[in-house]
Amino acid sequence: MAEIEPVDLSQFVSTLFSTLFVCYDWADNSALNQELEALLLELEQGQSNKSVNRSNAGGWQSGGNLMTLDHPAIRQLKQQVEILTHNLTDQIIRDDGKQRAFRLVMDGWGNINRRGDYNVVHIHPNCMWSGCYYINPGHPDPTIPQNGLLELLDPREAANYIQIPNTILDGRQFIPCLPGRMLIWPSWLKHMVHPYQGEGERISIAYNINIIEERP
Ligand SMILES: [Fe+2]
Repeated sequence: MAEIEPVDLSQFVSTLFSTLFVCYDWADNSALNQELEALLLELEQGQSNKSVNRSNAGGWQSGGNLMTLDHPAIRQLKQQVEILTHNLTDQIIRDDGKQRAFRLVMDGWGNINRRGDYNVVHIHPNCMWSGCYYINPGHPDPTIPQNGLLELLDPREAANYIQIPNTILDGRQFIPCLPGRMLIWPSWLKHMVHPYQGEGERISIAYNINIIEERP
């Protein structure tokens, strides 16, 4: 029998049911981060110091109206989230030759985690995109694995049974918390934040986004 020639599959493999995930680092956000950090610490100390309970185990979460605050830092952050979200939404649209336009409806809330605080596995219902923006990662002890890391979980249970590790199919994805980092993912995607162990505060802002199609 003649030997079969090797096959190049690169043009014949596609990703089905893939999960879109944006991880974008804003380069010049250090002044913005200082303003946002001061704002959230002030809100925590002020009338909003009673934490809202969502996914957090410990820690402080603000009310969900953060994006409506008339504050220059919030306006700038909101614009940055909108830019990435419009761009991402445009990328998922199938081209049928028609011009389409979308309006975003967003809410957001601040998160402050201190030693031992974490967020349990959860999704964000009643919206399309969710995500978070990192203001200050704090000082997580680097000797503790996954300290303060966001973990995204593959929701397809059986997909976790891939037999070889360290592939693009890994069922657990860990995202380092860096100042200026902005994340967006589909709201149905399960995620959690591992316990923060270290000095200071791990500070972030989370958001939910609905997309409204503008009708001509
Ligand atoms: Fe979340």
